[in-house]
Amino acid sequence: MMETELDLLSIAVLLVDRAGIVRRANAAAETTFDLSRRLLEGHAVRSLFVQSVQIDELLASIPADGEFPQRRLLMAVRRSLRDPLPVVVVAGPAAVEGLSLVLEVFDPGVVGRVAREDRRADISETNRRLLRNLAHEIRNPLGGIRGAAQLLESELSGSDQREYTRVIISEADRLQALLDRVLAPSRGPRVVEAINIHEVCERVRSVILAEHPMGLSVVRDYDASIPEIQADREQLIQVLLNVVRNAAQALAARIVRGDAQIELRTRIARQVTFARFHCPLALDLRVIDNGPGVSEEIRERVFDPLVSGREGGSGLGLALAQGYIEDNGGMIDFETEPGRTEFRILLPIDRAPSETMG
Ligand SMILES: Nc1ncnc2c1ncn2[C@@H]1O[C@H](COP(=O)(O)OP(=O)(O)OP(=O)(O)O)[C@@H](O)[C@H]1O
Ligand SMILES: [Mg+2]
Repeated sequence: MMETELDLLSIAVLLVDRAGIVRRANAAAETTFDLSRRLLEGHAVRSLFVQSVQIDELLASIPADGEFPQRRLLMAVRRSLRDPLPVVVVAGPAAVEGLSLVLEVFDPGVVGRVAREDRRADISETNRRLLRNLAHEIRNPLGGIRGAAQLLESELSGSDQREYTRVIISEADRLQALLDRVLAPSRGPRVVEAINIHEVCERVRSVILAEHPMGLSVVRDYDASIPEIQADREQLIQVLLNVVRNAAQALAARIVRGDAQIELRTRIARQVTFARFHCPLALDLRVIDNGPGVSEEIRERVFDPLVSGREGGSGLGLALAQGYIEDNGGMIDFETEPGRTEFRILLPIDRAPSETMG
């Protein structure tokens, strides 16, 4: 990697040679170590940390072929005028002539953010498990209720009474359809393959336009240079469909007027920190609508299962979408105001060579 590219990183990086001398430091390292690059480069790396012995041991343990598994160290950066700064250091091999070690140095601000994202991912995983277990529990008795109502119906002669069994059966069917959606992810193992995000967008666009042939325009603003991403195609189609359908439903009034608009926008995002890893390159996919916005009462909870703001909604669309996006290593969030709602999906394109956290 060239010096200029290292400088794009938000994480401090030191490239160290066999003798333990810093050969290169990036811009973020100047901030973390409180030293100019001129001073950092040429410095013995051991003198930068309070735990210099750990660095000595690390350097001594590097095998002759230079290959070794990544290691995480809890250390503190020595700073001349301020207190030592506690950091997490990820040490890995540097596959470059003359160098032996790459140190990635995370400061607590970054680590804290990662921990918060981890916790959020845990909660949504718990939600999903709970929902699936509940769905399993309801499924069998529901089948029994429906069957019994059918039997009863065939026994009943008067059409007045049959109306009641009709209600039971149709409500049971509605619940069954809901359960099917909750349990849908069990359709088998995920299939991860190289996919072109614009194909996914086009598929979803044509489905939505077929559902709303009049009054809705679906504008595309694609960055054609976006490389293929590794993900499950069916899951991504489902995610985008759920998000775009929500937009179309929110636009009902404007569709009648004929000026409803949904925009599908793709961009490349750089230096994205996901829950568990850092990505030099990510896909940034946005669905933007000119509807009334997500109503205030449910804004904080739209990704929770069974939270819906519309008549007849089951509140599963976004919960499932978030689950699928997380399965694929990504993140989903949104911003909303009357006249403009923007759902943003971030997916990794090019992961950093190894997991940096956890
Ligand atoms: N683009 C949007 N504009 C306004 N409100 C939105 C938008 N997207 C989602 N919402 C709100 O978030 C709620 C939750 O969405 P979600 O897709 O999870 O459930 P649903 O659409 O109600 O039901 P389901 O998708 O399961 O049929 C919606 O009911 C709606 O109130
Ligand atoms: Mg929905």
